[in-house]
Amino acid sequence: MKRIYIFTGKGGVGKSSTAAAHALKSAGEGKRTLLVSTDMAHNLGDIFEKELGKEAETVLPNLDVCEIDPEYVMEHDFPNIMEYLGKLLTDEGDCSVQEIGMIPGMEELFSLLKISEIYKRESYERIIVDCAPTGETLSLLKFPELLSWYMEKIFPIGKVAVRVLAPVSKAAFQVELPNKSAMNEIEKMFLKLVELEELLKNREITSVRIVTTPEKMVVEETKRNYMYLNLYNFNVDGLYINRILPADMGNDFFTGWLAIQKEYITCLKECFDSLPVYEIPWYDEELKGERAIRRIVEDVLDGKDVFTGKHNTERECFRKIGQGYELEVFLPYAEKDSIDLYQAATDIVIKTGNFKRNIPLPNILRSYEVAGARFDAGKLCIRFERGRGKDE
Ligand SMILES: Nc1ncnc2c1ncn2[C@@H]1O[C@H](COP(=O)(O)OP(=O)(O)O)[C@@H](O)[C@H]1O
Ligand SMILES: [Mg+2]
Repeated sequence: MKRIYIFTGKGGVGKSSTAAAHALKSAGEGKRTLLVSTDMAHNLGDIFEKELGKEAETVLPNLDVCEIDPEYVMEHDFPNIMEYLGKLLTDEGDCSVQEIGMIPGMEELFSLLKISEIYKRESYERIIVDCAPTGETLSLLKFPELLSWYMEKIFPIGKVAVRVLAPVSKAAFQVELPNKSAMNEIEKMFLKLVELEELLKNREITSVRIVTTPEKMVVEETKRNYMYLNLYNFNVDGLYINRILPADMGNDFFTGWLAIQKEYITCLKECFDSLPVYEIPWYDEELKGERAIRRIVEDVLDGKDVFTGKHNTERECFRKIGQGYELEVFLPYAEKDSIDLYQAATDIVIKTGNFKRNIPLPNILRSYEVAGARFDAGKLCIRFERGRGKDE
């Protein structure tokens, strides 16, 4: 089965290095592998000491590398959409692709659509994705879900769905409808988004791996990141703690730092005890070139089955209790007071911080109402009872 591994984490923690190490290991195992970067600050070229073009290039036997350029994807794969969006954004329709790229989340979205295409069309057994830093990745992860949700529920597919693509200003809502060819592109895009979401949420196919370092700010962001990934029901199945100082440096200067790292490593292991946790040493050099990256393979990955996705339980489940039902959603590290919950016509809506998720209710629960909720040990349990005046 072809698989996708997404490496995410804060900027500079070692996502590219860790992703590249997995790519080397995978190719070494004889699996046809693609290492692909969606981070606009690409550095796979530096790591493999090679100037990379716009399409995938073979750098080693079984290993291709590609730095996705979202502008290139927009222009080549969705030219009509680009033209139409250009019209939406300016009266004259002379808006450039660069300006369209300014719509938040747009670039990441096109990068992911490209990966979905590659997954379908190409014969790579493993696709390893080196992502943009956490903040951007999160907007990218929730974007397909939000977009397809709006398109399905609020707008009839096709006709006016495109409005959602440019939620730039209210004024944009009064514009002409797209011409026929853009319309087809939009419908194609909608279908691709649905496919993309299915691909990324499929636990048999996509694994999300979080890279972190043992320091306060990064650990905090890692926990938040994990919570949001769970909220959106992604399969997080690995944590990598990078830049761990060697214990025997014999240098007083680092004694304090060793203690600090130790504290955060313990904390991370406790927080992520349901996941495989890998520890990567802090090396005495920058990780440039295949030889340097191989150090991670030899020290950390060799002899471990890092490519079999670990199956974590589904993050949400409905179960029958007594006369009613209960929906359980796994939200590790969410703050109880920051969780907001309400019931829309056919969905249950959970908000925490800036994140919002709509969980469609099974048909049987449409006549039920939320009777109560509790948040305990990282789990939100929502209780449903049959609505008043709605008999058996
Ligand atoms: N374990 C490590 N030891 C030494 N240098 C490292 C280590 N991990 C990453 N680096 C260096 O830190 C910088 C950032 O790493 P990188 O993998 O590019 O992070 P990211 O992709 O998360 O921004 C690079 O120069 C890399 O060579
Ligand atoms: Mg990087």
